[in-house]
Amino acid sequence: MSLEIEIGFTLNGRPVKVRVPPTMTAVSMLREKFDLTGGKLACGEGECGACTVKIDNRTINSCLMFAVDCDGREVQTIEGLGSVKGLEIMQQAFVEHGAIQCGYCMPGMIMQARYVVDQNAGNEHKVTRDDIARGLEGNVCRCSGYTKVVDAVAAVVLEEAST
Ligand code: FES
Repeated sequence: MSLEIEIGFTLNGRPVKVRVPPTMTAVSMLREKFDLTGGKLACGEGECGACTVKIDNRTINSCLMFAVDCDGREVQTIEGLGSVKGLEIMQQAFVEHGAIQCGYCMPGMIMQARYVVDQNAGNEHKVTRDDIARGLEGNVCRCSGYTKVVDAVAAVVLEEAST
């Protein structure tokens, strides 16, 4: 019988409990135990950002985190950001600006984009296109350039600044 450890944490706003092997990564737990397949296991080495999720208000590469380390924390995945019927403003902006190519890296990229904009909310310094590009440099897209991605995030910055 293989060893499993029970952990409990908040997942997309609701408390959950799950049993996981000690060596399972957070991205694998989210995908395999909760069917939250937005975040992808791509490089598995912290290089591509496809597995980006938010944990306790910081984005992380969930391929580099053990599932057991989610215990007691607050985890948000792309599925907790918005829904198919009610896209969150960042998701909507990516759609409207044609920033989504094959879609593989987009959940991670949108999570990181949301984080970058949220980090700067309320700052007098206006988030520039360079800030956005820097904030997303850990998220790799192999389909396209990043111009439309930056366009989408810049549109959110503008829209949220005006509300
Ligand atoms: Fe985690 Fe690439 S799969 S950074």
